[in-house]
Amino acid sequence: MTGKRARMGRVPIITTRRRAGLLRWYEASGRHTLPWRLTRDPYAVLVSEVMLQQTQVERVLPYYLHWLGRWPDVVALAAASPADVIRAWAGLGYNRRALHLQRAAVAVATAGGDVPLAVAALRALPGVGGYTASAVACFAGERAVPVVDTNIGRVLARWLGGAASARLLKPANVAAMAQAVLPRAGPAARDHNLALMDLGALVCSARGPACGSCPLRSVCEWRKQDYPAESGAPRPQPPFQTTARFARGRIVDALRGQPALTVAALAAGLPGDHADRAGTYLQQLERDGLVERLGDRWRLPGGP
Ligand code: ADE
Repeated sequence: MTGKRARMGRVPIITTRRRAGLLRWYEASGRHTLPWRLTRDPYAVLVSEVMLQQTQVERVLPYYLHWLGRWPDVVALAAASPADVIRAWAGLGYNRRALHLQRAAVAVATAGGDVPLAVAALRALPGVGGYTASAVACFAGERAVPVVDTNIGRVLARWLGGAASARLLKPANVAAMAQAVLPRAGPAARDHNLALMDLGALVCSARGPACGSCPLRSVCEWRKQDYPAESGAPRPQPPFQTTARFARGRIVDALRGQPALTVAALAAGLPGDHADRAGTYLQQLERDGLVERLGDRWRLPGGP
């Protein structure tokens, strides 16, 4: 680690007074009415966090409400067929999340039906990583644990680390910052984590932060250092339509609308070079549990 990076990673001592402005800002300007913030039901919060993993809030809202209407609790979701949950996920992307959620429901239902609230027990569920486990423990269980998503990481990196982005810091340093500023009491920790999340989404955005209206501006290290930029251009991404993820998504989309299809029929629906690789994509999807073979046809698991 360079000297500069080490300096940026140092965690200052935070007093309650220094973060008081953050909570006042959250009370006035936070997104309090998001439906998953109005409940402490761990199942509902788990559903929301899995949906929000790679998807924008606005897009998730109708899916979340529909999902909870259809599968209001763990037992209901555990009894659903994988094909039905994959169909209900249509349009959200990253279909494995739907399967993981259903498998998590089966695991919880088998173990008695209560979604755990301890981080370690949550992490043991299919598809639940460190972020999601902390989020459910904190937002549903009011456990005083740090929660670090992209928005929160960026706020911490700027406020305490003087860096434009959390990518410039060691993850362990960002985690130490999150812990250092966390209130001890669970309900206060919940508000604090949600406040950081909203500040990152609404004010301290990646590009074009509104520093003039930031409650932390007088104590922000990044501002004190005159906003050093993140050097290096972002790595260029290939166009989405050329990726295997796109093609696999198209195959699952086709199977959502048909009971079962042959490789040839599925290949015919894929653009360009993807058609030649339909067999490979199907094998990958089968390994993930997203499709199953039925004679010479393929279908969603547990079809029709
Ligand atoms: N509220 C609680 N968790 C959230 C998330 N992951 N994204 C946006 N708002 C949230």
